[in-house]
Amino acid sequence: IDELLSEGVDGKRVFVRADLNVPLADGLITDDGRIRAVLPTVKALADAGAKVIVASHLGRPKGAPDPAFSLLQPAERLAELLGAPVAFAQDTVGPAAHDAVRGLEPGQVAVIENLRFNAGETAKDDVERGEFADQLAALADVYVGDGFGAVHRKHASVFDLPARLPHYAGYLIATEVGVLKKLTEDVERPYVVALGGSKVSDKLAVIDELLGKADRLLIGGGMAFTFLKAKGYEIGASLVQEDQLATVTEYVERAEKNGVELLVPVDVVVAGQFPDLKTKAPAHPTTVAADAIPADRMGLDIGPETGALYASKFADAATVFWNGPMGVFEHPDFAEGTKAVAQALVDSQAFTVVGGGDSAAAVRILGFDEKAFGHISTGGGASLEYLEGKTLPGLAALED
Ligand code: 3PG
Repeated sequence: IDELLSEGVDGKRVFVRADLNVPLADGLITDDGRIRAVLPTVKALADAGAKVIVASHLGRPKGAPDPAFSLLQPAERLAELLGAPVAFAQDTVGPAAHDAVRGLEPGQVAVIENLRFNAGETAKDDVERGEFADQLAALADVYVGDGFGAVHRKHASVFDLPARLPHYAGYLIATEVGVLKKLTEDVERPYVVALGGSKVSDKLAVIDELLGKADRLLIGGGMAFTFLKAKGYEIGASLVQEDQLATVTEYVERAEKNGVELLVPVDVVVAGQFPDLKTKAPAHPTTVAADAIPADRMGLDIGPETGALYASKFADAATVFWNGPMGVFEHPDFAEGTKAVAQALVDSQAFTVVGGGDSAAAVRILGFDEKAFGHISTGGGASLEYLEGKTLPGLAALED
């Protein structure tokens, strides 16, 4: 983007593909980290006199307008954070979008409606995606890719549009890639990785890759119960992916062979049912040993002993990557495990990277100071796929 700024953007229509896919509860933004993350790019372009068009997806609407996924709220939040008005177009490539762009003076910003209200955005068919990319291209003179959270998606605005316009990487993408490159190419050891989240199936490829890269792998969250079951433990009513037991068993064996320390919880916090995240009604949790989960209880967080054990594994680390909450942190009865890991990262001298929409939101929602971490990635799937060593369509499109 510095190259673009030095060439001059005064009066040019610059399309910024951001990732404003923020968590919403009852229609309200619960974490605006992704909106704040794109501010440096939007500000720099506006300050240089560009007419800035910000575009993003929000949620997973089905290729047609759906008010539940309107970008209006993120657009309003962007205006607040910029301290300047932001025009909002009620369609993406229709008359409202063209009017909004025509109405921009140099230095002004417009947000167009959710890209995924158009089936062409996510279409598998190259021609269909290409047609939508042509419509997007008609709005702008230049493309800036800065939606790091979506670079793993082969979508029209991420992959096809940059081929149709002069294209540049924004500040966020440059920062994210710089940090993740360090983890993959030039990592300082000991390299300790904590992985959580509900489904082990989402993390298989990254675990596979990390078994050849990390020194220690700490497992938490819902996915830990598939590991515990693979060890032969009774896990009661906890979440389990039976179809992944064989793979997980193979990972445990490979970790041992490769000299990777793979840790699973030694104690867990359990309750009779999944807690109500809306009312946050008391869930009456108890803590039990990981091999003594009663048949009618489900594990919803790592226990205090596990929290302390994991914290001790970060203490001498040089690099830490953490992705995925350790428990159902949205409910106070099951937030302690995630807090313990976040606190251990804060206390460690290591270069700490938090990856993943959920864990990034967790550290902010739990009240941690973002500055206490080395880097908080805005990418969930994107940062994991980068660590897996995959080619990411949105980065490949900017590199050519
Ligand atoms: C994310 O939240 O990981 C990104 O915004 C991508 O969203 P998606 O998984 O719906 O493509």
